[in-house]
Amino acid sequence: MKVSVFIGTSVDGFIARAGGELDFLPEGGGEPHGYPEFMASVDALVIGRNTFEIVLAFPEWPYGEKRVVVLSSKPLDFSGVHGGKVEQMSGAPAEIAKKLAASGVQHVYVDGGITVQRFLREGLVDRMIITRVPVLIGQGIPLFGALLRDVRLQHVATQAYASGLVKTEYEVVR
Ligand SMILES: NC(=O)c1ccc[n+]([C@@H]2O[C@H](COP(=O)([O-])OP(=O)(O)OC[C@H]3O[C@@H](n4cnc5c(N)ncnc54)[C@H](OP(=O)(O)O)[C@@H]3O)[C@@H](O)[C@H]2O)c1
Repeated sequence: MKVSVFIGTSVDGFIARAGGELDFLPEGGGEPHGYPEFMASVDALVIGRNTFEIVLAFPEWPYGEKRVVVLSSKPLDFSGVHGGKVEQMSGAPAEIAKKLAASGVQHVYVDGGITVQRFLREGLVDRMIITRVPVLIGQGIPLFGALLRDVRLQHVATQAYASGLVKTEYEVVR
C-alpha cells in the first residue's frame, strides 16, 4: 500500500493558523495544481481528529464517497457527516496501515499535521506533495515536527504556478 501526503503550507511551513483557520490559503483550493487528479488516485483518506473537526464545519463534506478514516483516541460523533463514508480508528500508525492494506486499500492519503508527523516518524510515508502558498504567517500549526532520525527525501519534481503556488513532490528514501 502506498501512503501519500498532499498538503498546502505557508512558506514558513504552517498548514493552519493556531486556531485552525485556513484563511491564508487561496480560496477554493486556488489555481488548479493537481488536487482532483491526486484525489482520484487514492482509495482512502486517513485524517486526524482536528482536521475532521475543521472539515465538518465546511458547507459540504469535501471527500464525496471516498472512504475516510478519522483517527482519534476519543469517541467521535459522525452524525454531522452527510453522504460520506466515515469510520474511526486509533493506535499505532503501523497497525492502522496494516488494517487498511488488509482491507484492500492500495493508495492512502494521510492528512493533518500531527497525523502526518506520526506516520512520518514510523517510516510509513512514501510520497509527499507539498504546495507552498506565497505568504508568511509567523505562527500556526506546523506541517513537520520532531523526528527520531533524519528522513531523507528524493526530489521528484517542482512546478511553479502563475499565482505564486510552488508544488514540490518528494519520495521518501527508505
Ligand atoms: N493546509 C492544508 O492543506 C491542511 C490539510 C489538512 C489539515 N489542515 C489543518 O490542520 C489542522 C489540523 O492539524 P493538527 O496537526 O492539529 O492535527 P490532525 O492531525 O488533524 O489531528 C490530530 C489528532 O488526531 C488524532 N490522532 C492522530 N493520530 C492518531 C493515532 N495514530 N491514533 C489515534 N488518534 C490519532 C489525535 O486526536 P485525539 O486527541 O482525539 O486522540 C490527535 O490529537 C486543522 O486546522 C486543519 O484544517 C490543513
